Amino acid sequence: MQAISDYQGYFLEYLSQKTIDKEPKNLYEPINYILNLGGKRLRPILVLMTSEIFDGSYKEAMDAALAIEIFHNFSLIHDDIMDDAPLRRGKETVHEKWDINTGILSGDAMLINAYQLFENYKSDVFKELATLFTKTAIEVCEGQQYDIDFETRDDVTISEYIKMIEYKTAVLVGAAMKMGAIVANASENCRASIYDFGRLLGLAFQLQDDYLDAFGDPKTFGKQVGGDIIENKKTILYLKALEFGNKDEQKQLKGLFSLNPDNPTDKINTVKHIFETTGAKDQTRLEIEKYTAKAFAVLENLSITEDKKTALKLFGEKLMNRSV
Ligand code: IPE
Ligand code: IPE
Ligand code: MG
Ligand code: MG
Ligand code: MG
Repeated sequence: MQAISDYQGYFLEYLSQKTIDKEPKNLYEPINYILNLGGKRLRPILVLMTSEIFDGSYKEAMDAALAIEIFHNFSLIHDDIMDDAPLRRGKETVHEKWDINTGILSGDAMLINAYQLFENYKSDVFKELATLFTKTAIEVCEGQQYDIDFETRDDVTISEYIKMIEYKTAVLVGAAMKMGAIVANASENCRASIYDFGRLLGLAFQLQDDYLDAFGDPKTFGKQVGGDIIENKKTILYLKALEFGNKDEQKQLKGLFSLNPDNPTDKINTVKHIFETTGAKDQTRLEIEKYTAKAFAVLENLSITEDKKTALKLFGEKLMNRSV
């Protein structure tokens, strides 16, 4: 196994070789734009790393890693349309730079392109990767629809929320790791455990994403801070504020989340204040730690060496303390 930065380097090198420079420009330019906008490359790194954890070679896992990253970036283009988001990785979102129709179609092409990459594997591996991918991709769609449906509901429960983030975010992290295990031909047991580790880490990851959306530093975050508040997203911060707030705070929060003001500055500031006074901000940090610990617990029953477990834990800890 190698360092995280090595896997990232190999991946970026491979990605740069795969740039599609052809007509029509308005289909391919947005694809190259989003794929080269940066990002943490968390999912492809996990594919490569996991394949080596199970004694495979990262090189063989490269097309699966690329497929996952292309799928992720497709989902971001469509997500930014759905969330009416102006910024992604510190730059204009695709639908702002071009337009919504361009974002829809370039995203569609990326989804197909991701699928195509599995064709580079021999038939039994292809089948396993494609089966996992289709299941995961449809779950992501379901999660995204719940996320939108929840914007206009005021009775979302924590368990509904957890299911929503499991589908929209966590299953893809689990699938990334399982794909590494599939390429390495790991046992069924190992595949299932590493999927579960990734899924739980993915839940913690989305909780941290919700946290940063309100409390991230606008200078480094790369997305519009307060975007979830503007869109009335039922995030963990909102749900914990309702759970721990007094009657007045609950009423005020529900009221604010039924409005869509033209200038959202006051709404964002008031809501963030409620997230702090109710203890929702601190509760959210506890939930992040809880799911990270659940992920780490899965590693206990996994038969890999201690140094590999340590590497996975370090990766998880870094993710939960990130600012981007
Ligand atoms: C953003 O994912 C979407 C979520 C599921 C929270 P990342 O935070 O991994 O985005 P990039 O790829 O690093 O920009
Ligand atoms: C994104 O959730 C999940 C997917 C893209 C499938 P968010 O809407 O919270 O992601 P960001 O915050 O825009 O990156
Ligand atoms: Mg979004
Ligand atoms: Mg979204
Ligand atoms: Mg978010």
